Amino acid sequence: MPLPAQYEAMSDAALEEAIWRAKEALGERLVILGHHYQRDEVIQFADHRGDSLGLSRQAAKAEKAEYIVFCGVYFMAETAAILCKPHQAVSQPVPEALCPMARMANRREAERAWQALASVWGEDVIPITYQNSTAEVKAFVGERGGAVCTSANAQQIFEWAFRRRGHILFMPDEHLGTNTALGMGIPLEEIGLWDWADSPDPCSLAHCRVVVWKGFCYVHAEFTVEDVQRVRAQHPGALIVVHPECPRQVAALADALGSTTGIIDFVAQAPPGSTIAVGTEWHLVNRLQKEFPDRTVLPLARRACATMGMTRMNDLLYVLDGLLDGEVRHRVTVDPDTAHWARLALERMLEAG
Ligand code: 13P
Repeated sequence: MPLPAQYEAMSDAALEEAIWRAKEALGERLVILGHHYQRDEVIQFADHRGDSLGLSRQAAKAEKAEYIVFCGVYFMAETAAILCKPHQAVSQPVPEALCPMARMANRREAERAWQALASVWGEDVIPITYQNSTAEVKAFVGERGGAVCTSANAQQIFEWAFRRRGHILFMPDEHLGTNTALGMGIPLEEIGLWDWADSPDPCSLAHCRVVVWKGFCYVHAEFTVEDVQRVRAQHPGALIVVHPECPRQVAALADALGSTTGIIDFVAQAPPGSTIAVGTEWHLVNRLQKEFPDRTVLPLARRACATMGMTRMNDLLYVLDGLLDGEVRHRVTVDPDTAHWARLALERMLEAG
């Protein structure tokens, strides 16, 4: 939705000044959350910047604030809306900023996979969904005793699941599910793939311990073995750290896997003078280059997330101006029944972590 013309006409300096003023006027009534992939121009205003897990925790803790403004993609703001208290309102400055991967699973198709797997495993299966999923998929998982995970705690949540049942259905990221299972010592032959566009015969999956949904992040799935080989040839001795949404072949060649916070910690702990190639979204890599000038931080390949980059200062100011007038613009809400079950799945994660 286009912004009113006056917001597009403002200079960067005017936008910056107006946002700081609005923040000051709203004081403790407002909390701005910003994901690490946001533009620098936006992240400077975040009261809390973090990965999906950290920001979920902040959303659950921000009890004093009347308004939570989430600069990220839709599933993140939706998660905040599920975790917040009834007196709080969550806004997302650009409601069109979606995560394409989150849209690769829906409740209907999840139900179909669940029925099929029940035909071979009976009740001995637990659903786990990545935070990058819709509220309805989180609710589906919550209703069936499962939990949400993020890239920062996927192994912990898989361990939690295996203490309860013998098999996992993991949605919607094939690569995070596969990398997590492999990291736990589960052989590749025991990791099955659920292709929602062309459902497999469940009998072909009966021997598996984990079945992963055939979904992907279009940013991370594009990193290749050739990218790793090129960086190793051009920068001998470089350390390589990648997000676990990258394909397993890329993950296997990297020195470390990390959530966005894990990647930041890896760069922070690398010795000064070292070269680190990072396989994740470009806005974060670019920021790390600036924040660690005594290290060389380079992108494994330059890949940006179009929707994460959609939020600009103009969009943030539009929402803050509304709040100054008592109007919640671009509010994110979740219907009470969906929110109830999705909250359960999120709380299981937050408790297990
Ligand atoms: P993190 O949980 O590592 O912040 O990742 C979220 C995400 O959307 C990665 O593409």
